[in-house]
Amino acid sequence: MSVRAVVTGVGHYLPERIVPNAAFEETLDTTDEWIRTRSGIERRHFAAEGETTSDMAIAAARRALTAAGRGPDDIDAVVVATSTPDLTFPSVATMVQDGLGMTRGFGFDVQAVCAGFVFALTNANALILAGQAKRVLVIGAETFSRIMDWTDRSTCVLFGDGAGALVLEAQDGTGDTSDRGILSADLNSDGRFRDMLYVDGGVSSTGHSGKLRMQGNPLFRQAVDKLTATAHTALSKVGLSDDAVDWIVPHQANIRIIKGTAKKMGVPMERVIVTVQDHGNTSAASIPLALSVGAERGQIKPGDLIVTEAIGGGLAWGAVVLRW
Ligand code: ACO
Repeated sequence: MSVRAVVTGVGHYLPERIVPNAAFEETLDTTDEWIRTRSGIERRHFAAEGETTSDMAIAAARRALTAAGRGPDDIDAVVVATSTPDLTFPSVATMVQDGLGMTRGFGFDVQAVCAGFVFALTNANALILAGQAKRVLVIGAETFSRIMDWTDRSTCVLFGDGAGALVLEAQDGTGDTSDRGILSADLNSDGRFRDMLYVDGGVSSTGHSGKLRMQGNPLFRQAVDKLTATAHTALSKVGLSDDAVDWIVPHQANIRIIKGTAKKMGVPMERVIVTVQDHGNTSAASIPLALSVGAERGQIKPGDLIVTEAIGGGLAWGAVVLRW
């Protein structure tokens, strides 16, 4: 017998306002066609004025709790992946606790930019395996619209806002890969690449939150190799190969990266969850959003073997293998 961290509920929240690519044609030297063909993005959601990362995280968390048949009192820990918190501190996780009416347990944020959800899920799994928590809410929530430079056509057309949440619960498993739950993970980061994607402000440097800067093409060239390698490492840790994969649930940054990684893994696109056309790049929210949408569409079913993978600022990248 061994303990497994099993997904028992999933939910997401997207802000009401949907902005199609064509809207950028009015203010920037860009076209719907360029954005579609280079990134796969067709539209994205932007948070309303005054709508914060914690508001979206709370909404997604409520839906995940309902899906799991649990209330806030059942939860021991909240782990939020975000790079766009409401405030420098306290953590978004503590705001989620308060918003849900959770007066026990603990919460903290994880910051690994677009790879944040993979890092948060791995941390939540470790809390469960170590016996620190039996039920954990794992959330990815971002308001990247707040760190866009609206004059920079190479970045501002790519990102969106949203939140997704999972309830992870300790359950007994057999210890083999037929178990439901998180089976393995692989995490990496390398600060030598930090200039490829960063925000040009912060508390101890400029004193303001700054705007996102990205060298898109060099990053693009790193992405497919690193994502394939981390997915393979995570799978090989539990003796699985690409054939075992029912679904790749990738970070949704660019359809060309998603297709390139799937091709390199030998997994057909019919077995890849794609939401980038509707959400854009929502950073740490993109994987839980894709999991939630994939389950809602009836694509992901209990028992399916899933590989999630993501890369983002740091660079930081990683993969998690789980059985739904
Ligand atoms: N509209 C029209 N033209 C544009 C736009 C735009 N919105 N943006 C850039 N261009 C131009 C560039 O200026 C360039 O023009 P030039 O050739 O005259 O210099 C040309 O289009 C090609 O630009 P590239 O950057 O070479 O285009 P590329 O094919 O690499 O696509 C993209 C750009 C979509 C950004 C791609 O590189 C990408 O997706 N990169 C990775 C993004 C990513 O995965 N980020 C990590 C996760 S994000 C996170 O962690 C927060």
